[in-house]
Amino acid sequence: MTLDQLTKIFYGTFIHTPSFGEVEILTKTVIGINSSGTIIFIEKNVLNLSTIILKLTDNIQNIEILDISNDPLKFFFPGFIDTHIHASQYPNNGIFGNSTLLDWLETYTFPLESSLKDLKKAELVYTKCIEKLLSNGTTCASYYATIDTNSTNLLADLCLKLGQRAFIGKICMNQNSPNYYIETFEESKLSTLKVLNHIIKIDPNKNLIQPILTPRFAPSCNSSLLNWLGELRNDKDLYLQTHLSENLKEINWVKELFPQSKTYTDVYNDFNLLSSKTILAHAIHLSNDEIELIKSKDSCISHCPISNSSITSGECRVKQLISKGIKISLGTDCSAGFSPSILQTAKHALLVSRHLSMKTENDLDKLSIKDVLYLSTNGGAKCLKLDDKLGTFDQGKQFDVQLIDLNFNNIDLFEWQLPSDKDDDEIWNNILAKWLFNGDDRNTIKVWVNGKQVYNQ
Ligand code: GUN
Ligand code: FE
Repeated sequence: MTLDQLTKIFYGTFIHTPSFGEVEILTKTVIGINSSGTIIFIEKNVLNLSTIILKLTDNIQNIEILDISNDPLKFFFPGFIDTHIHASQYPNNGIFGNSTLLDWLETYTFPLESSLKDLKKAELVYTKCIEKLLSNGTTCASYYATIDTNSTNLLADLCLKLGQRAFIGKICMNQNSPNYYIETFEESKLSTLKVLNHIIKIDPNKNLIQPILTPRFAPSCNSSLLNWLGELRNDKDLYLQTHLSENLKEINWVKELFPQSKTYTDVYNDFNLLSSKTILAHAIHLSNDEIELIKSKDSCISHCPISNSSITSGECRVKQLISKGIKISLGTDCSAGFSPSILQTAKHALLVSRHLSMKTENDLDKLSIKDVLYLSTNGGAKCLKLDDKLGTFDQGKQFDVQLIDLNFNNIDLFEWQLPSDKDDDEIWNNILAKWLFNGDDRNTIKVWVNGKQVYNQ
C-alpha cells in the first residue's frame, strides 16, 4: 500500500454484491484511492474520520474528502455495467409499436443506424446516449455502433472524452440486409481492422476503451465473414458480442441459412466465435445442448428483459442458466429496450422472472432484489472479465462508483424505515427495495469512473 499516493477519501455507507444473491452493507467505512482511481485502502467501522486521516497522512491539504456519513439515506454503490446496448439506436427509445424482431429491424432500426454515417448526427446521438447512461449510474457499457468506420471511431472518441468505460463494436453485416445498409466482405474486414487500430491508438493501455468484434447476428453475416472474425478473435484474443436465440422466427431462419450447424449456438461455435470473452445477448430459447455448449466455452449471456417484453421475444430462464454455471449480466438493449437505465432493467428482470415463474409454476425461477443488483454490477464485471478491476469495493479495484441519495419524494421513506445505530439487514433490504422499485436517475447524484468524477447532478 503506497499511501503517499492517496488523493481522495470517501466516508459513509458502501453497499455491494460480493456474490449472486448476497448484499453486503459496509457502514461507517472509509475508502481511499490514488490518482489512477485504484482503491488503496478500505477501513470498516470507523467512528471518527479525523483519527483515520491523521493515521494515514500528515499532508491533508492535497486530499479530497467526501463525507456522507451523517446522511442515513446516502450510500455508495458500484457503477452499473450495461453489457448490451446499441448507442446508434438511442433516438428510437420507446418507439417500437407492435413489431417483433425481424420487422422491427427493417422498420425502425436499419434506417436510423444507416443515417448515422452523417458524423454530425452521430456526434449528437452518441453524446446524448453516453451522458444519459452516466447520469443513470452506468460506468461501463458494451456498445454496438453501426457498420460505419468513422462514426464507430467517433463513439470511441466520445466515450474517452466523457470518461465512460466502454467496449466499442463496429457492426459487421454483409448479407440479408437492406441495400442502403450493407457492406461487402472486403469492406467489413477493412472497417473492422481500422476500428481496432483506432481504439488501440486512442487508449493503448485500455484505461477506458477496448474494441469488441461485433457480427450483428448469424443471419446478417455470411460464412466467409464469420470465419474471418473467428480467426481474428482467436489470433488476437479479442472480445466478441452478438445476438443469440432471441426470437422463434429468427431461430428458424438461422436453421435455413446454416443447415450444416446443429443449432443456432453451434453456428457461432462452428466459426470459432465462442470464448470466455464472448457476450451473447438474449439467449432465450436455448436447448439443453446449447446451454451445455455455452457453459463449456465459458461465454456469458446478457439478459435484456425490457427488450424481451417490448418486442415480445420471450423470457430468458436466468435462474436455470445460473444454476448451470453460466455467467449472466444485464443489458438495456436500447432501443428494442426503451430505457437507458440499468436500475429499470434490473426491476424488469425481476418482473420478467415472476412471469416466467407463473408459466413454469416454479418459484425457483424468481429473481430477488439481491440477485438483480448483483447482475447489474458484479455479474457484468464477471461477464466482461473485469472482476479483478470492477464490480465490488475491494482493495486493488478501480473506483467506478455511483453515489445514491434517497432523499427525494419518489422514494418517501418514513422515519421508522431509516437505518439507525442498531442497523439490521431488514431495514437495509427495504431501503434497497425502495430504490429498485421507486427510484430512478434523480437518485443518482454523482458518478465516478477510474476515480474521476464524470457526473454531478
Ligand atoms: N438482432 C439483430 N440485430 C438486433 C438489434 O439491433 N437488436 C436486437 N434486440 N436484436 C437484434
Ligand atoms: Fe441488441
